[in-house]
Amino acid sequence: MKFFVDTADVKEIKDLAATGLLDGVTTNPSLVAKSGAPSFLKLIEEICGIVSGPVSAEVAATDYETMIKEGRKLANIAKNVAVKVPLTQDGLRVCKELTDDGIMVNVTLCFSAAQAILAAKAGATFISPFVGRLDDIGQDGLKLIEEIVTIYQNYPDFETEVLVASIRHPIHLTESAKMGAHVATIPPDVIRKLFAHPLTDKGLAAFVDDWKKTGQTIL
Ligand code: E4P
Repeated sequence: MKFFVDTADVKEIKDLAATGLLDGVTTNPSLVAKSGAPSFLKLIEEICGIVSGPVSAEVAATDYETMIKEGRKLANIAKNVAVKVPLTQDGLRVCKELTDDGIMVNVTLCFSAAQAILAAKAGATFISPFVGRLDDIGQDGLKLIEEIVTIYQNYPDFETEVLVASIRHPIHLTESAKMGAHVATIPPDVIRKLFAHPLTDKGLAAFVDDWKKTGQTIL
């Protein structure tokens, strides 16, 4: 399973990339606004220099004519840009055109299996179903992941990868992994939670104490 970090915070991206566990980055207009970066294009360029995997950069427009121009401009920033488009009729039209030209596309704001089928038919590189936002309105976000993974497995000609988005806690990740989702995009605080277990902390503290008793050093 590939791990992307869901942030536009360069400091966080650098810190997590240093672990060697990061396969890519996703951003969205809200995350860019939160980062306070004065230039979106320069921000994406900088992030693309930190990670070699896909970096999702979202178009700002919602109409076909503007989105296609924005998408091409974003794709020109670096080879590892994945242009992010919304799951609308115009968005999927843009997706088809860009993927036909060999540009990676992440179709975002997916909330149904039917939408995921359309994205796969449009040749999307990634489909981003939002689990947390479905949970927020009383629907089962993980059920959607299960449906999409099953449907895609039924059609091996679908090459679109399921990118689980809007992850709120580690269980979203582990359950998606059990279902066979290809990618998870995870906020930095949730990635840090993945490392943690109280028994790891307790066990490590005991090992450190016992090692001191030996009076030895390794280096
Ligand atoms: C994915 O690409 C989105 O940026 C993100 O996962 C949305 O998450 P949110 O629902 O926490 O805003």
